Amino acid sequence: MENEFQEGKEEVIQAWYMDNTEEDQRLPHHRKPKQFVSIDKLAELGVLSWRLNADDYENDDALKKIREARGYSYMDICEVCPEKLPNYEAKIKSFFEEHLHTDEEIRYCLEGSGYFDVRDENDQWIRVAVKKGGMIVLPAGIYHRFTLDTNNYIKALRLFVGEPVWTPHNRPNDHLPSRKEYLDSLMNKSAAVEAR
Ligand code: LAC
Ligand code: NI
Repeated sequence: MENEFQEGKEEVIQAWYMDNTEEDQRLPHHRKPKQFVSIDKLAELGVLSWRLNADDYENDDALKKIREARGYSYMDICEVCPEKLPNYEAKIKSFFEEHLHTDEEIRYCLEGSGYFDVRDENDQWIRVAVKKGGMIVLPAGIYHRFTLDTNNYIKALRLFVGEPVWTPHNRPNDHLPSRKEYLDSLMNKSAAVEAR
């Protein structure tokens, strides 16, 4: 059995282009008319995603396979709510500062939901809504940010290759090798798409 949950992936991972209004960051910020973004488009940006069985994450073979294939040796749980996250207000603020990391950001939503915003190749914001059972990988070097939605709660599994480095490098940080490598990978992908 290949992962049976892949089928309903759009139930737990949806993406759309954002408007540029200054309204509450926790609102959806759809454009008018709505402009959805496909899972394939996300993949072209290097954003990978899966749908998994969040009720069985401790024994899930599909998750085990992904961890083995991608070397995700480290795992912990992060709950974003005032009771569980020390320095809640400051953290919420820093999560929403546009930043990049020198490694992948890997998040698997076990409960609740949240928005991972990523920049596309033209520097436009794409909002990636992740719900229970959705797992995403943001590639090293992509500019992104995170916010809770109006449900105000997420419990996420954080994965990492080796010892975790959570350091955010706020924009602009274009001199970092991981940024350059990311931009190169985008160019190669778009060349491949054009050659199709
Ligand atoms: C992080 C998310 C919030 O860096 O982008 O943990
Ligand atoms: Ni981040």
